[in-house]
Amino acid sequence: MTGPVSYWVVIPAAGIGSRMRADRPKQYLPLGDRTLIEQTLDCFLCQPGLNGLVVCLAADDPWWPELACAQDSRIVRADGGQERADSVLAGLQALLARGAGMADWVLVHDAARPNLTQEDLYKLLATLADDPVGGLLAVPVRDTLKCADAQGRVASTPDRSRYWQAYTPQMFRLGALRDALTQALGAGAVVTDEASAMEYVGLAPRLVEGRSDNIKVTRPEDLQWLSRHSKPH
Ligand code: CTP
Ligand code: MG
Repeated sequence: MTGPVSYWVVIPAAGIGSRMRADRPKQYLPLGDRTLIEQTLDCFLCQPGLNGLVVCLAADDPWWPELACAQDSRIVRADGGQERADSVLAGLQALLARGAGMADWVLVHDAARPNLTQEDLYKLLATLADDPVGGLLAVPVRDTLKCADAQGRVASTPDRSRYWQAYTPQMFRLGALRDALTQALGAGAVVTDEASAMEYVGLAPRLVEGRSDNIKVTRPEDLQWLSRHSKPH
């Protein structure tokens, strides 16, 4: 790889954080001296090669304009959609409107995943720079896995050595990701991450091993855990 890989970023942040049961969407809860979403954005804003970044927000989001980063000229706002995949698709359209090319790399990263390190971001960019498909940060599962039957009893124990947890960022070419998401959503497929849309159209994203502490804040104990563990630099 010669020089930094140039890339765009989409941050889906239009969710309501129902499982956090807080008084506002989780991305606006405090973590350290700022909000969770500000901590998340930092990692990208510091990395060379960033062309621009779009945050996908609920249309009536009153919290975003209050943040200092809302004034950052590298960040644009797009309206999110019903599901995460709809928000990401809206983000990709916003990038195209901003002059991004179909063959440009796009990294999609959850607003609620503030513990991404510069090292993992660099590893993802460097590993996939020449990849024909793209891929994602992921972590091999550690615990023994159980497959349940309808009664909540163990039906089987799959071979865990082949299973990974899918993290973000997920990195794909803009046009290919837009087409895959459009096709998968149009067919009513379950699309919980960008890789599953790429898989839907027959492609095999590459798994890039990342740090296991790049967690997504989902439940209250996740935020408590993060506030006790400062981000490694
Ligand atoms: N997200 C989004 N648009 C949606 C739903 C989710 O942009 N329609 C975003 C969330 O804001 C979050 C990321 O996708 O940054 C991951 O989703 P998740 O952890 O499920 O967040 P929420 O949907 O907000 O939480 P919950 O499912 O508990 O309501
Ligand atoms: Mg959700």
